[in-house]
Amino acid sequence: MKNLIFIVSFLTLFSSLADVRVLKHQKAADIFTNWHFFENGRGMTISPNMSRLMWMLGEDRRADIKHIKDPKEKADIITNFIAKKYGFVVQDEKLMGVFNVKYKNMDIGVLGCTACHSGKAAGIFVPGLGNKTIDPYTVGRDTLRIQRFWGFGNRNPDFKYIHEKALYFAKVTSDRNIASLTRGLVPDSTIKTFFYKDHGLPYPKDMGRGQVKAPHLWGIKEKRPAGVFNDGSLSGDSYAWIFGAELFASDSGEHLRAVLTQIKWLTDKVLANLLPPQYPFKIDKDRVLRGQEVYKNTCIKCHGGHERDPQGHPIYTTPKVIPKHIVKTDEEKLNIIDDEFIRLVETGSLRDLLTFEEENIRKGYFAPKLWGVWSRFPYMHNGSIPSLYDILLPPEKRPIIFSMLEAGEEYRFDKERVGLTLFDQREYKRKLRSAIKGDRDIYYIKREGQSNQGHYFVKTFGKLTHEDRLDLIEYLKTL
Ligand code: HEC
Ligand code: HEC
Repeated sequence: MKNLIFIVSFLTLFSSLADVRVLKHQKAADIFTNWHFFENGRGMTISPNMSRLMWMLGEDRRADIKHIKDPKEKADIITNFIAKKYGFVVQDEKLMGVFNVKYKNMDIGVLGCTACHSGKAAGIFVPGLGNKTIDPYTVGRDTLRIQRFWGFGNRNPDFKYIHEKALYFAKVTSDRNIASLTRGLVPDSTIKTFFYKDHGLPYPKDMGRGQVKAPHLWGIKEKRPAGVFNDGSLSGDSYAWIFGAELFASDSGEHLRAVLTQIKWLTDKVLANLLPPQYPFKIDKDRVLRGQEVYKNTCIKCHGGHERDPQGHPIYTTPKVIPKHIVKTDEEKLNIIDDEFIRLVETGSLRDLLTFEEENIRKGYFAPKLWGVWSRFPYMHNGSIPSLYDILLPPEKRPIIFSMLEAGEEYRFDKERVGLTLFDQREYKRKLRSAIKGDRDIYYIKREGQSNQGHYFVKTFGKLTHEDRLDLIEYLKTL
């Protein structure tokens, strides 16, 4: 009897242990999706009280909405309209990463981390995945139009303080000289603008865009010591660069100092617990075994192994940077870390916190760990390759256009190639014309910073057959 009790309690302990990381993940996901860094009037905001009139943002012209009586149904239509137009993710009928904060008797619309750092893949909501559809340029452009009139005549100093920062935030994000050229891409250039302001200088119009997709955040705790962002040129030692996307929206670096302890906590105690999403469809086990061999022969050299703990969860490790002359992907992003930028940072008001990983400056890109890679399409730092299958093809055979609209929805997921569906023959010519004209909903690889070249290693990739590729993809689905 005693033995039986021992065995039962041992088993109970074991099964509850097995779930610890899942429970931690759920808690982390919950905290992160509700997080923002609005503090003392500072942060990424729109003008006070404008959030009360959110539908104005969407310029909704649909006549039918006026006839809907049920306020909830009306709210849903508005939410979905805004979500689609600006690329926010909707989860539980709420716009992810958009908050209404009460501050000094005002309603402040605040943007949080998960506006960019939560997304959908194959219709599944994934906290910590990059948002595939967000369009900061369009958000900035439309809020700027309204905000120009919004503050008219209001003399309340609290209102004016936030209103003026919100105007500046919208102006920078909607500046066509530095904005991204396609939805789903975020320009690092906006971060650069902070350092000119810090020195009391106007930022130059020709400083480049640095367009990147928002990265996945699971494994960041182990990545940080090697450098942050996709090239590792920024030191992760002080954690301060993690606040990068928010910096330019505040009046000074004091905002960063005020929230730095929270950023450390968020990185090490919250984001550290995120798990990658599991592939939601069927996986062919025989192919996986063969694919694992292909992976060992062709990929492991750079991307490393993917070890698991006894419960089968990932053991995160530090990735390494691969020089640009080897990986040969687009260099726009590397070049925006230019000498002037480095000088401004090193002589600026945050020089004690924001430092560089010298040896990584303009060196190349991390070969990222591939946990949850099935969900991270379109691939590469600039999102230029729509599927895993296309990564394994020579660059000249990869798609040159693909749609970014509703990229996380299930109907946009191609299970065979693992990634985004492509335009069909009928619509292709029309879509190509539209892409050439600058349609922001279409990814077009001829735009500056959006090249899909590189990451093709002839000696090894060149040997892969169609079946090898499918085997390898099957293995990648298990990560
Ligand atoms: C406007 C969109 C946006 C917002 C909002 C945003 N980020 Fe990011 N974040 C990015 C992009 C884009 C990158 C990648 C930049 C690069 O690699 O060049 C990034 C990088 C990061 C990284 C480094 C990832 C890595 O692999 O090195 C961390 C950590 C991070 N963000 C956390 C946060 C936190 C915490 C917040 C909230 C304060 C936040 N981000 C808000 C877009 C955003
Ligand atoms: C010589 C080193 C090297 C080899 C070999 C290599 N990769 Fe990569 N891989 C990289 C680098 C560096 C990047 C990041 C490039 C960028 O973002 O511009 C990358 C990016 C990727 C990405 C994009 C991840 C994302 O989130 O967008 C995938 C997927 C990938 N590699 C899969 C593979 C597979 C599968 C193989 C083997 C068939 C492989 N790689 C072989 C260096 C390598």
